[in-house]
Amino acid sequence: MLNLFRRSAVKPAQLRSALEDLGVGGQVAIAHTSLSAFGYVEGGAQGMGEALVSSLRTLLMPAFTYYTLVWPPERAQPDWPQPPPRSRVAFCQDSRISPDIGRVAQWLADQPGRLRSAHPALSFAAIGPDAENLLRGQTLENPYGPIGELYRLDGLVILLGVDHRSNTSMHYGEYLAGQALLPRYVMVGEEVRETYFPNCSAAFDRIAPLLSGRSLRLEQGRIAVFRVREVVDTTTEVILRDPEALLCNYLGCRCQQVRTLVRRFGLRPRLPAPQPEVREE
Ligand SMILES: CC(C)(COP(=O)(O)OP(=O)(O)OC[C@H]1O[C@@H](n2cnc3c(N)ncnc32)[C@H](O)[C@@H]1OP(=O)(O)O)[C@@H](O)C(=O)NCCC(=O)NCCS
Ligand SMILES: [Zn+2]
Repeated sequence: MLNLFRRSAVKPAQLRSALEDLGVGGQVAIAHTSLSAFGYVEGGAQGMGEALVSSLRTLLMPAFTYYTLVWPPERAQPDWPQPPPRSRVAFCQDSRISPDIGRVAQWLADQPGRLRSAHPALSFAAIGPDAENLLRGQTLENPYGPIGELYRLDGLVILLGVDHRSNTSMHYGEYLAGQALLPRYVMVGEEVRETYFPNCSAAFDRIAPLLSGRSLRLEQGRIAVFRVREVVDTTTEVILRDPEALLCNYLGCRCQQVRTLVRRFGLRPRLPAPQPEVREE
């Protein structure tokens, strides 16, 4: 009787065929994942991770480690949490990914063949022939540079069980539009260096009606696919029209500091989106 109510497990082969149906086979993509959104995934993070890697040409994922930010008291900012968190350990290539990025990203970062960028708090991991090109676009000043490379390669965003609140590519659109960024600090060797942090993404799903992605349902979860170029360009357009359109309204959120800064100084558009280029096979 109980079996009537039990949903079946999602098998890696089903994930692969769903990805195939969505047209991502052989493409370069960034993925954002939630295992639990699908109910039960056979093989867990490895099952989902291998399905992605075997379907794609190159897989990129965030490998952020928020706990490696440092909070020098003399550089305190109005939007910093009170009291600022204690920095625990320095970033290294094997640093554990923050749990809110998910287990599949951790699985990718643990793969022997993966590359990982060196940003001390906002690193990305990638596996596949384009990994090096994707990761070299990142600097402390432009932490979302890998998305710029993905744009150049006409790559995809794949959301597995999550919505645009996990869509890192939108932060790159904000960056290009010239949204105010917040100073944050990291250690590079012995030196405290400034890096830039965006507003939060709690309001990012507001973009959903403006995008023309493809999606399908798999058991309890949904997989959605978008072109990075459309995500980035639409984000930039939305912000150029209304700089506060993607900021959340929670009083305690750093979005309110971004709001203050953008009201005072306006947008400062950065580099134009890179010119489209055909990928070399
Ligand atoms: C925060 C987030 C990771 C939470 O999703 P989640 O499904 O709870 O987390 P994970 O994908 O890491 O999966 C682990 C959880 O799934 C469940 N789980 C474990 N094995 C599982 C399996 N085989 N099948 C299904 N669910 C499983 C467990 O509840 C586990 O939580 P626990 O570690 O607390 O026990 C997800 O909502 C998210 O936002 N993902 C995208 C993150 C991202 O890319 N952000 C970009 C930053 S801008
Ligand atoms: Zn916010």
